[in-house]
Amino acid sequence: MDNNYSEIIKMALNSRKNSYSPYSGFKVGACLKDVYGNLYTGCNIENAAFSPSNCAERTAFFKAVSEGIKEFECIAIAGGAYEVKDYCPPCGVCRQVMIEFCNPETFKIILVKTENKYREMLLKDLLPESFGRLNIE
Ligand code: THU
Repeated sequence: MDNNYSEIIKMALNSRKNSYSPYSGFKVGACLKDVYGNLYTGCNIENAAFSPSNCAERTAFFKAVSEGIKEFECIAIAGGAYEVKDYCPPCGVCRQVMIEFCNPETFKIILVKTENKYREMLLKDLLPESFGRLNIE
């Protein structure tokens, strides 16, 4: 394992172990990297009332933003029920949170299967024609 993403991939896989997902049984872990190289982990956190549930990606973003960080480089995401079998692309709501803080041309989304098996995508490809801050200026 010698890629640039080895650390955030490992941390995303590790955060998945903290997933609180008794209702879906689907565990997701994420690790977000800011432009200074700091890492913020997240997992999905479900709720008996369902709608208060939060995705792993948003947990990581909200941790970072709540600490005053608003510039990001990339996020690694790993999801699966018992194990990570397939790539887990971020849901639409998480993509919308990403577009609030990230440059779609440069922000990278790393979809993880294993430490060595991953796919790298740009936010602009996952959320084209997005609605963002500039649209309401
Ligand atoms: N989930 C995430 O945490 N991230 C994603 O990218 C997709 C879905 C969570 C939400 C819910 O807790 C569970 O996975 C099943 O949808």
